[in-house]
Amino acid sequence: MQGLIADIDLLEEEQKQAESCDFKTTEDDNIVTKRKLYIESYGCQMNFSDSEIVTSILKDEGFGTTSSPEHADVILINTCSIRDKAEQTVRKRLEFFNAVKKKNRNVTVGVLGCMAERLKSQLLEEEKIVDLVLGPDAYRDLPKLVKQAENGEKGINTFLSKEETYADISPVRLNSNGVSALISIMRGCDNMCSFCVVPFTRGRERSRDPHSIVKEAQDLFDKGYREVSLLGQNVDSYKWSPEENNKARLDKKNDSKEIVNFANLMEMVAKVSPDLRVRFSTSHPKDITDEVLHTIKKYKNICNYIHLPAQSGNSRILELMNRTYDRHWYINRVDAIRSILGTECGISSDMIAGFCSETEEEHQDTLTLMDYVKFDFSYMYFYSERPGTLAAKKFEDDVPLEVKKRRLQEIIDKQQEVSLERNQLDIGKEFEVLIEGKSKRSNEKMQGRNSANKVVIFEADLPKGSLATVKIIDCTPATLFGELV
Ligand code: SAM
Ligand code: SF4
Ligand code: F3S
Repeated sequence: MQGLIADIDLLEEEQKQAESCDFKTTEDDNIVTKRKLYIESYGCQMNFSDSEIVTSILKDEGFGTTSSPEHADVILINTCSIRDKAEQTVRKRLEFFNAVKKKNRNVTVGVLGCMAERLKSQLLEEEKIVDLVLGPDAYRDLPKLVKQAENGEKGINTFLSKEETYADISPVRLNSNGVSALISIMRGCDNMCSFCVVPFTRGRERSRDPHSIVKEAQDLFDKGYREVSLLGQNVDSYKWSPEENNKARLDKKNDSKEIVNFANLMEMVAKVSPDLRVRFSTSHPKDITDEVLHTIKKYKNICNYIHLPAQSGNSRILELMNRTYDRHWYINRVDAIRSILGTECGISSDMIAGFCSETEEEHQDTLTLMDYVKFDFSYMYFYSERPGTLAAKKFEDDVPLEVKKRRLQEIIDKQQEVSLERNQLDIGKEFEVLIEGKSKRSNEKMQGRNSANKVVIFEADLPKGSLATVKIIDCTPATLFGELV
């Protein structure tokens, strides 16, 4: 997910993804007689990572995968509730699956993820084709509920856990390029950003056992993967200790009250191999520490790229959003990144246009923040009120839709401008690029990313997963073009 992503009209990006099959199961050709699972995922990387856990759970029950819902015995849709349009997209997909079910009455249809958690049994009532509803912490129950559904009984489990991290489950990598993989390091979120539904759909924050994370990274490296992305809603608050996690371990090392913070965890993963790139997302401006920045600097294989969502450039709006930092604090963190990691470190953001009571001047503050930081790219949205959130309870959603859309367009235009400026600075420079495969547009060209997470296209014929040194000769706001050195 790179470049300018915004939901200005009918979730264009999500629609494109739905058409491009990027996030659907592919055919597991090996065993034709197995029962088949078709799974489709929406939302953030954590959801994509969860789908890999779900597939693993069903694989242990003898399921293979299929890329076609028509050939599936079980269809699962892993959903997102972050904005209203995300839920609308899922409703449309359920209409499509309804048509599939009319042709094949035996297929079981399940809704997983954040929308399942938010709407609970309401989903079973509203969407007649749905046989099972499972929240993000209930996936171990899936085999039981699938069996029930096959016997004609609808099932639901939306229990949110304080402990579940699926640490022991080895995810089945879906649609993998064989080079980069996602590793979930924590679940839930304890921040209460007033606009956000995630704390309600994902529950309390909990960190996964670091030893299981390192083991997963090592397994991936042994299988040929060369990049891992450590995922959490707020990775900087990662904290694990045997006591806190209620997992008193018997070995001596853990008896010594081992506490692992995010900087320690990154270091542990970076040590798996200098040839394994380490990425992470998402960093929270209130929590990112200089210790984390120094750890990034210390290890060449920890990528120089930080996704640090600002949301707004105005301190009053940030306070209403309950982000617990102000413009000054945000700028201070960016300055720390630039001074410790240098100007080449990639920084990206999420931006929300038209939050409750936002004035034109306050919107201008977002644009001037973008001018100051010069984000390499951003995910940009207009505010969508979510039922049950603090903002929905306390504030009026009073910025008219046309105004929200116009402000979002101004934010998108500003991002295009600063992305191009940032990319032009790279012309003439040489970067190490991890090759992900052929370029989507040309068979003669390869595509990869540099440490700052920028997509680099260049002419070559090299294997996926290898590193190439590329000199940049041209760019657009979203891509660097180069030649092999
Ligand atoms: N945990 C991450 C953080 O705090 O930066 C982000 C998580 S959220 C899944 C991804 C982004 O969706 C947020 O950063 C925010 O920009 C956007 N978002 C969340 N709720 C929204 C809402 N109600 N309306 C519009 N955008 C929203
Ligand atoms: Fe939502 Fe805020 Fe948590 Fe991010 S940090 S998931 S925006 S509540
Ligand atoms: Fe969406 Fe849930 Fe992720 S609401 S963005 S899938 S945590």
